[in-house]
Amino acid sequence: MKLALVLIASTAVLGVGILTPAQAQTKEVSFKKDVTPVLKKYCYNCHAGEKSSHGLKVDNYDNIMKGSKYSKVVKPEKSAESVIIRSVKNQPGGTKMPPGRRSVSESEIKIIADWIDQGAKNN
Ligand code: HEC
Repeated sequence: MKLALVLIASTAVLGVGILTPAQAQTKEVSFKKDVTPVLKKYCYNCHAGEKSSHGLKVDNYDNIMKGSKYSKVVKPEKSAESVIIRSVKNQPGGTKMPPGRRSVSESEIKIIADWIDQGAKNN
C-alpha cells in the first residue's frame, strides 16, 4: 500500500513536470546538444579542423557565425535567408550541401532552422 502511494505520488510529480507551460512551448534548440551532432554528421569532413572549404568552418559557434570567405552563412532569426539553410535545402542562393547524393533529412534541417530562428544563440 505504501509503495503504491509512493508510485502515485511520483507519477503525479513527473506528470506536472512534463506539463509545465514553459515546456509545452516550442522546445529551445541547443547549439551544442542539437545542432552540433547534425553538422558533425554531414559537414565536418569538409568544414572542420584543417578543412575549410570556401573558407567556412562549422566546427564551433564562433566559426559558424564568422561565415565563409565571402559571406555570413547564418542570419540570426532569419533561417529562410540564411545561406546555410538554402544550401542544405538545395535552394537558389545556396550551393547544395553536402555536395553529392547525400542530403540532410527534413527533421535535421528543422533543428538548424529552429536554432537560427530562435536567435542563433551560443547555447
Ligand atoms: C565533400 C565536402 C563537403 C561537405 C561534406 C560539405 N561541404 Fe559545404 N562546401 C564544400 C565546398 C567545396 C564548398 C565551396 C563550393 C562552391 O563554391 O561550389 C562549400 C561551400 C559551402 C557553403 C557556402 C555556399 C555558398 O553558396 O556560399 C556553405 C554554407 C556550406 N558549404 C555549408 C555546408 C554544410 C552546412 C554542410 C553539412 C550539411 C556542408 N557544407 C558539407 C564542401 C563540402
